Formats: sequence, C-alpha cells, structure tokens
Amino acid sequence: MAKKTIHCTINGSKKEYTVDIRESLSDMLRGSAGLDSIKHGCDVGECGACTVLIDGQPFNSCIYLAIWAQGKTILTLEGLSDKKGTISDIQQAFIDEGAVQCGFCTPGFIMASIPIITKEEVASRDEIRKQVAGNLCRCTGYDKIINAIEKTQHKRLEEKKSK
Ligand code: FES
Ligand code: FES
Repeated sequence: MAKKTIHCTINGSKKEYTVDIRESLSDMLRGSAGLDSIKHGCDVGECGACTVLIDGQPFNSCIYLAIWAQGKTILTLEGLSDKKGTISDIQQAFIDEGAVQCGFCTPGFIMASIPIITKEEVASRDEIRKQVAGNLCRCTGYDKIINAIEKTQHKRLEEKKSK
C-alpha cells in the first residue's frame, strides 16, 4: 500500500504523519493523532459526526483524504478547551441547554457551529439550522442544539460589544 508523509497543524501544533494514500482524515485524526472526539457515524458524508474545521471551514473528515490535509490547519473539539482543559463556552452551552444526550453527534454539531458563533452579525435560527443541516442527531429533537448555538452567539457578540 502506498504511503505518503504529510505535514499539517492540528489544534495549534505542527504535526507530521505517514499515512496510507487511501486513508481518511477521520481515521488519521482518531488513529495517528489520538483525537477521539471525531466520531464515525456513517463514514459516507451523511451524518456530520466526524466534522472538523479545515482552514476554518467545516468538513466531514470521513470523506476527506488524509493526504489532502498537507499544509492545512485543522481544528477539532479537543482544540476548543483552554490550556488547563476548561471547556469552551459553546461546549458549556450544550450542557446548560440539555443539548447533549448520548453525545455521539455533539462534537460534530459544535464544530459545524463555529462559523456561526464567530460571525460578527446575529444569525437567525433559520441560518443556524441551515449551518448544521448536515449534522444528524437521534436524541435531542434539535431545538436544544439550536438554543445552545444561538445562546453562545449572542453571548459572544455581547462580550465583543462590552470591550
Ligand atoms: S461519519 Fe462522516 S459524515 Fe457521518
Ligand atoms: S445526542 Fe445522541 S445522537 Fe445527538
């Protein structure tokens, strides 16, 4: 099997991995990088459980080849906590709003929501729904997830205003 060495940045650290050229980014992140927030739900790009940010944009890492990550900057859920391991506001909002039940879909939803919670203007609930339309949850009924994302976006905008 052909292998290739790639260099990329994951959660702020420069990394080098030698991967099978057919390996998915989700396998590389869970395997070589040991990041198990990335979930294998469907493995065909339909559930969003494997969502990570690549150069700031959400992607389904199960249908993204690891070799395409050469030179890219990748952010996973693990990269949202601070150095002491304190979870981020969006993770806390998911807990506070009861948006987590089995939790399998949660990392993917949180990563897919980053473009919304870092937006400079308020996003409507419809815009939030559209942003996470590629993510499936079997437990929560979605409203609580949308509440958590909306709450975090409002909180961040308020914080920016008060600075
Ligand atoms: S596991 Fe990647 S989209 Fe479902
Ligand atoms: S919390 Fe169980 S699948 Fe979403």
